[in-house]
Amino acid sequence: MAKDKTVFVCQNCGYISPKWAGKCSNCNSWNSFIEEVQIAEPKGLNAKSQHIAGNAIRISEISNKKLDRIQLPYEEFNRVLGGGLVPGSLVLLGGEPGIGKSTLVLQSVLKLKGKKVLYVSGEESENQIKLRAERIGIQNEDCFIYTETNIEKILATIKSTEPEIIVVDSVQTVASEALTSSPGTVSQIRESARLLQEYAKEFDIPVILIGHINKDGDIAGPMSLEHIVDAVFQFEGDNNHYYRLLRPKKNRFGSTYEIGVFEMINSGLKEINDPGNILISDENVGLSGVSYGTLAEGTRSLMIEIQTLIGNAVYSSPQRTATGFDSKRFQMILAVIEKRLGLHLSQKDAFINIAGGIKVKDTAVDLAVLASVISSYYDKPIQDNTCFIGELGLSGQIRPVSFIDKRVSEVFRLGFKNVFIASSQKSELSKKYSGIISVSDVKDFASKLFSLSQ
Ligand code: TYD
Ligand code: MG
Repeated sequence: MAKDKTVFVCQNCGYISPKWAGKCSNCNSWNSFIEEVQIAEPKGLNAKSQHIAGNAIRISEISNKKLDRIQLPYEEFNRVLGGGLVPGSLVLLGGEPGIGKSTLVLQSVLKLKGKKVLYVSGEESENQIKLRAERIGIQNEDCFIYTETNIEKILATIKSTEPEIIVVDSVQTVASEALTSSPGTVSQIRESARLLQEYAKEFDIPVILIGHINKDGDIAGPMSLEHIVDAVFQFEGDNNHYYRLLRPKKNRFGSTYEIGVFEMINSGLKEINDPGNILISDENVGLSGVSYGTLAEGTRSLMIEIQTLIGNAVYSSPQRTATGFDSKRFQMILAVIEKRLGLHLSQKDAFINIAGGIKVKDTAVDLAVLASVISSYYDKPIQDNTCFIGELGLSGQIRPVSFIDKRVSEVFRLGFKNVFIASSQKSELSKKYSGIISVSDVKDFASKLFSLSQ
């Protein structure tokens, strides 16, 4: 008889090691190994059994099965899903605790009438879920709640209830009794997801899994879970702000460019169909160090507000702090300004903050950061209604960015008057709009920045 083995599994990436180690050699995370028992597969019978040959078919002969997507009641959610929830798919929704994952899913299934839904919760009691439902204020007779963490029991209940949509909140709380490791470990999460997936595919029922994320922003536990599921979405935002972005990380049935925008209000989440300027406020207009840029997100463009503070260094080594912006990129921009414009930034503390609690990765924001640093350095406000779109190269040149048409038209639609862009993107746009200012490098930019007529 084969023996069960004890192995050590990295809880971050699922790497298996025969010995305990402080650092995972696969994903470099520290202290991530947990001892788990690997149940031996019975050998003999299976290993030697003769397999019957399967049938391979031509791709052209595969019938085009129409995907009858289930339309959720929120357009923002449907669009991010790629046009609705695909039957038989396994969808993972990740996000920090308290961001509103349970609220988003519960209110989507409550508002969806005529579909039987089973909402399995391993985190909250029936009463807590009822309270949330009351707060959201939607009644639905087709929504069933089941509080349980044992996946075998959950599957049995699913089979007897026969729901048309299944929700599991959260995947980290469910566990199989066939495994000895505790809930939340890689093997438990993987096993539970596998069992749910089997059911989903067999009966063509969609399953929404809710998962927590760790400090690095990955779904806590297994990256391997992201391979099993069909789609992974992150629900993000800042607990101190009301806006929430639903962002796809992987989607087998749609693009990963779209984002969904929601606002957390007293009665749950409200979708925002025209989010162009939700992230900017009027409060900081006319202050030095404040500038505006754009983020291209799928078919949309969002305006963002950048706040920078450049001050005399308090300690011998100047501080560099970036919130919502990549700190390495911020340092690069500071270095380019120092070298190409001769501003003495190495003696200064520099802080940057993206308003609204969102995290920016779009390099088209570089030019807006550049503008806010220069404005704060000279303590001189930038002319009202001005926006900056461009990427900064190490040699100081301003480079073209993607989706420039979409960005510029949104900026003007929202009432901005002047837009700085890279000179290489000027030709078409300046024919169309009158407020285009093109710049070729940082020197050219600095000379034009404060020369706008007031
Ligand atoms: P929740 O959905 O429980 O978050 P998660 O499942 O991601 O942990 O949302 C929790 C937060 O949302 C909580 O701090 C309160 C806030 N909230 C509202 O502001 N309004 C509401 O109507 C609801 C239901 C929650
Ligand atoms: Mg929750």
